Amino acid sequence: MQGSDGIALCRLEDIPDRAGRGFTVQRDGRSHDVFVVRNGAAAHAYHNACPHKGLNLDWRKEQFMDAEGEYIHCSNHDALFRIKDGFCIAGPCRGARLRPLPVVVRPDGGIEIA
Ligand code: FES
Repeated sequence: MQGSDGIALCRLEDIPDRAGRGFTVQRDGRSHDVFVVRNGAAAHAYHNACPHKGLNLDWRKEQFMDAEGEYIHCSNHDALFRIKDGFCIAGPCRGARLRPLPVVVRPDGGIEIA
């Protein structure tokens, strides 16, 4: 769906704190798998493609986080990524990054990517 300033995904309250949710969006005439992680009042969006093998991170559907809700988790080979910048701190792609997407949380709680 198309929002006023970008592609509207959902509302902040639709995602539990320290959890993620996946979407398929149309952008530049192509389909993209993306996901959003909520961290309190903030949201961070990334392409749903692990820098290790390019696979979707949520091999277990909609499971984007580790058990503690501290790091983004790729369930294929257990890479861990920081929420704030997608930097990989453990796993086979240590030192690589998830590809970020510009994301905004509107005053009404709507989450959009540009
Ligand atoms: S595909 Fe993500 S860790 Fe291997």
